[in-house]
Amino acid sequence: AAPTLYEAENSPAVCTGTVDSDWAGYSGSGFCNGTNATGAHAQFTVNASAAGTATLKVRFANGTTTARPADVTVNGSAATSASFESTGTWETWSTTTLTVPVKSGSNTIRLSPTTSAGLPNIDYLDA
Ligand code: GCU
Repeated sequence: AAPTLYEAENSPAVCTGTVDSDWAGYSGSGFCNGTNATGAHAQFTVNASAAGTATLKVRFANGTTTARPADVTVNGSAATSASFESTGTWETWSTTTLTVPVKSGSNTIRLSPTTSAGLPNIDYLDA
């Protein structure tokens, strides 16, 4: 099936922080600027047509010089991790690919930063 684009600013996605639009180049109406803290997260509800392994693309910008690592959980279970390297500026967007197990139907995918710097700005998840 064709990929589905899940915007971080559109419910049922959850952004613990603010949905901002002050840095150009985002898709949709904005992006998730998560609170700069470990507890903050961006969460997506992804539908899978069958159980198996899903390839997810996360579009993000990290205008700092330091990577912003995150844990990735699927339906509450640790699945993989993401690095979210510097993209140079907040208006430079990049995509990183995550490979995770999914069940058939609705899956909750959560990106949880592992440092107090929090997440990069998150534009969307493409599944
Ligand atoms: C800046 C930038 C935000 C970004 C934040 C951060 O404030 O304008 O878009 O989210 O830095 O460090 O996370």
